[in-house]
Amino acid sequence: MIIGGSSSQKLAAKVAKELNDQLCPIETRKFPDGERYIRIKGEIEKEVVVIQSTGFPQDENIMELLFILKNLKSLGAEKIKVVIPYFGYGRQEKRFKRGESVSAAAVASLIEDCGASELICINLHEKQMCDFFNIPVHELSAIPLIARHIQEQLENPVIIAPDKGALLHAQKISRILDCPCDHMEKTRLSPDKVETRVKNLDVKGLQAVIIDDIISTGGTIVNATEILMQHGAESVTVGCVHPVLVEDALLKIFATGVEDVLATDTLTSQVSSISVAPLIAEALK
Ligand code: R5P
Repeated sequence: MIIGGSSSQKLAAKVAKELNDQLCPIETRKFPDGERYIRIKGEIEKEVVVIQSTGFPQDENIMELLFILKNLKSLGAEKIKVVIPYFGYGRQEKRFKRGESVSAAAVASLIEDCGASELICINLHEKQMCDFFNIPVHELSAIPLIARHIQEQLENPVIIAPDKGALLHAQKISRILDCPCDHMEKTRLSPDKVETRVKNLDVKGLQAVIIDDIISTGGTIVNATEILMQHGAESVTVGCVHPVLVEDALLKIFATGVEDVLATDTLTSQVSSISVAPLIAEALK
């Protein structure tokens, strides 16, 4: 039995179809003062899967997930597998400055305390997130799915990591496609401003593909695209797992001349063309 929270209903339906499993209907709405109402309408089975991304509006989606979990527990569910395709607050996994909240740890405790027995996530921003949980955590990678889509669309790609953090993803794709790979150096100056530098970039006449786990404000991609074009790339395509896409991020990206953005549906967006449903379904089997 699968429950799709409000942020992941389409994805939950796709996973249920892949597994030939039933979707349990829920009612979610807000009271006039903004408080959230949850009702699970189906008969609860002993094993339940809940799918809910915790992207924007993060606090509402997290609160809804917690209400669903606690409710399932008190209605008799014995094993609750929680699938969080995009884990909100995952970038605050440590105390960068004295006194800061390790928000990812707080969210992890809440999910566990409300009854999750197992967690499935996709490309966590930092692996140490898994240590915040005492329940089994399975981290899946959507990178091979992105590689397959690049292979179908481009003949002569060169894979580019826009910073060192994305290098492992870029290298994995370049191994799958047997094509070259390079990386840039990035310094974050503020939440929405980055500085990007390169050494010897050889992309002349090649179809450059920038790979990142998250596109948030789009600043990282815009800088990388401009550099690739200055270095004579034939075209620039972008591949990312989690299209967070704050405000006009997509507009800024396409305005630089990017051909296409290939993103997954861990978050719903205009560019979420690659479904992670088969990946999740396989992990749930
Ligand atoms: C950072 O380490 C991540 O991998 C992404 O590069 C980052 O979240 C992208 O942010 P933005 O789109 O705001 O530049």
